[in-house]
Amino acid sequence: MADPALVVRDVSKSFGGVKAIRDVSLEIAAGERISVIGTNGAGKSTLFNAIAGVFPPTTGSIHLFGEDVTRLPTATRAQRGLARTFQTSRLFEQLSAADNVFIALGGNEFRGGLLRPARSNPKRWERVERLLERVGLPGRGEQLVADLSHGEQRQLELAMALALQPKLLMLDEPAAGFSPAERGHLITLLRELPQEITLLLIEHDMDIALAVASRVVVMHDGEKILEGTPAEIRNSARVREIYLGGSIDHAA
Ligand SMILES: Nc1ncnc2c1ncn2[C@@H]1O[C@H](COP(=O)(O)OP(=O)(O)OP(=O)(O)O)[C@@H](O)[C@H]1O
Ligand SMILES: [Mg+2]
Repeated sequence: MADPALVVRDVSKSFGGVKAIRDVSLEIAAGERISVIGTNGAGKSTLFNAIAGVFPPTTGSIHLFGEDVTRLPTATRAQRGLARTFQTSRLFEQLSAADNVFIALGGNEFRGGLLRPARSNPKRWERVERLLERVGLPGRGEQLVADLSHGEQRQLELAMALALQPKLLMLDEPAAGFSPAERGHLITLLRELPQEITLLLIEHDMDIALAVASRVVVMHDGEKILEGTPAEIRNSARVREIYLGGSIDHAA
């Protein structure tokens, strides 16, 4: 049997006195689609960042495709096929959409002390176009990032993550600030991802989380409290209680 894409074992992370996550375990098979849901401060991003290698966990271990990456840097995890987006945007605002994707593809050069995408390669240009089409931004390559809507910027980030041809794609609240139409588009796009891509989606929009995943993990107060199929999570009284009773300042 193939190694699981991801094994998180008893991972905890403290920031000073704050235990952001406690003893979280999670296993994702290759090609599986998992959503992690939970209200503000549940520990979703902390779990995500520990997996991505932004910081080592305080305790516990993380295996990526069978390899212990607990103490390995983000760049090494990226080489092993992990790509991620951030909860807040990390785009080059003064460059065009296409140039951002070019940079993600690695076709960069330094000229005059500035990072510039190397546009001379026509094959690469085609790939950029295809990636922009795929995320719902066809023909928008020349537009400056600063002039794209918030939703379009998130779509562009997804194109940049896909440019890396990831084996494990991790998205942290990709629909934050999306209009209903953009949400619908994102659901379609995620459902149409190639079968072999393993997806770990963090999302507090339940509709998206449940529509895209085969399995849903619920975090609350730093712990994984529940795991189940979308139907089980939708019908869970505990989940309803958390979402209705807890902090619901998720206007986005
Ligand atoms: N760098 C940090 N320093 C100190 N405390 C942190 C840090 N990052 C997260 N925390 C704390 O850890 C807890 C979990 O935060 P985390 O960002 O993981 O939650 P989240 O589920 O992603 O929330 P949200 O839905 O708001 O994005 C919170 O109490 C938060 O204040
Ligand atoms: Mg978060």
